[in-house]
Amino acid sequence: MKTLLQINTSMFETHGQSSQLASRFAAEWQEANPQGQVTVRDIGRDPVPHLTAERFQAFLAKPEARTPEQQAVAGFSDTLIDELRRADVILLGLPMYNFGVPSSLKSYFDHVARAGVTFRYTERGPQGLLKGKKVYVFATRGGVHAGTAADTETAYVRDFLAFIGIEDVEFVYAEGLAMGDAPKEKALVAARQAIRRIMAPVEALAA
Ligand SMILES: Cc1cc2nc3c(=O)[nH]c(=O)nc-3n(C[C@H](O)[C@H](O)[C@H](O)COP(=O)(O)O)c2cc1C
Repeated sequence: MKTLLQINTSMFETHGQSSQLASRFAAEWQEANPQGQVTVRDIGRDPVPHLTAERFQAFLAKPEARTPEQQAVAGFSDTLIDELRRADVILLGLPMYNFGVPSSLKSYFDHVARAGVTFRYTERGPQGLLKGKKVYVFATRGGVHAGTAADTETAYVRDFLAFIGIEDVEFVYAEGLAMGDAPKEKALVAARQAIRRIMAPVEALAA
């Protein structure tokens, strides 16, 4: 059975444009994969706490030596990682807030980067341990940044996912969402068309 994990990071939760594009994709995917399982992790609604020295120590402590508090912290991280591990397809809603990714996504990344679990260091450098996944990123912005130095998100998200072993990453952009009704509508229509283009071959195979 195929599994899809949808990660919403918009502060507007399911109302965010990025969440809505991800949900549209998830609905089409579910139609093409009726037996498939969809899991939603909404970190706009339920934010991941900032990584602190105490929380990081919980990751480092040996499982049998963890205090109850450390067990809870490591257990939460394990749950997030298990969701990623189980997923064949991962959808990431990615708004731009103040020139970067939502802080909730940074905290999430800080909780799924675990030495010996999602990556390890080798003589040839770091090696990601999550394999065989496809990620679609729905990047929504008020302005237009893709391909410019102001787009700090694309390289960061790609680099982080590659670090934990996920290299097959495709971006769908909806930009200019704060530049007036017409540009906004045009960008959203184009993003929806991109979703159709991605899903059409999958649906043809499923038919
Ligand atoms: C607090 C805040 C900060 C924002 N900062 C930027 C920014 O730096 N650059 C930009 O292009 N758009 C910016 N925007 C516009 C958002 O990227 C846009 O509204 C997008 O739809 C957000 O995705 P969401 O609807 O999924 O939350 C900002 C919006 C908010 C609410």
